[in-house]
Amino acid sequence: ALYPVIAVVAAYLIGSLSFAVIVSRVMGLHDPRTYGSGNPGATNVLRSGSKPAAVMTLLLDALKGFVPVLLVKVFGEQFGLGDNTLALVGLAAFLGHLYPVFFGFKGGKGVATALGVLLGISGWLGLATALTWVIVAVFFRYSSLAALIASIFAPVYYVLCSGIVWDAEPPITTAIVVMAILLVWRHRENIQRLIAGKESRLGKKKAEES
Ligand code: G3P
Repeated sequence: ALYPVIAVVAAYLIGSLSFAVIVSRVMGLHDPRTYGSGNPGATNVLRSGSKPAAVMTLLLDALKGFVPVLLVKVFGEQFGLGDNTLALVGLAAFLGHLYPVFFGFKGGKGVATALGVLLGISGWLGLATALTWVIVAVFFRYSSLAALIASIFAPVYYVLCSGIVWDAEPPITTAIVVMAILLVWRHRENIQRLIAGKESRLGKKKAEES
């Protein structure tokens, strides 16, 4: 059982690339861990004022979830890798983002990476979840609330559409549920701020907030 271990460890290492920090460093911006929410994620990089940096962070953090899952899906069979490995690889990339070995195990909240994993599992599942995020974000203008609601809907979509668009595989269902639980847990401070009415809104500078 060497190939599954290699795949899972590689996915964890790729997930550990905290692109909010890397992109900011490359683009000469402040370290996202030092301002705003302090979170190394696309939302907080946006608070630096650089949209390109935020978009790059979002894309790269999503890619690091998408690519490992896609590779197992496309080439896994040749190495005897099945759905168990696929699920663990997705989870490993996600956990790498949350607890990155290269950044003192202090990572982000996993929204972009989870989305990449979902897109790797199924394009439709990823798109439905991303659309859910967009709808909530447009209406309420909270990135965190959008992520929380989208993360709860992802396993619901996966299970409800099973037998129609795809067949839900138990290990993959488990991985999606575990990602959702961890994602909510990582947003516990955001949840407190949302309840207290103190969460910062998308598209607003700190000074404009009321
Ligand atoms: O991407 C994480 C987002 O849901 C919340 O980020 O910086 O507002 O805590 P932040």
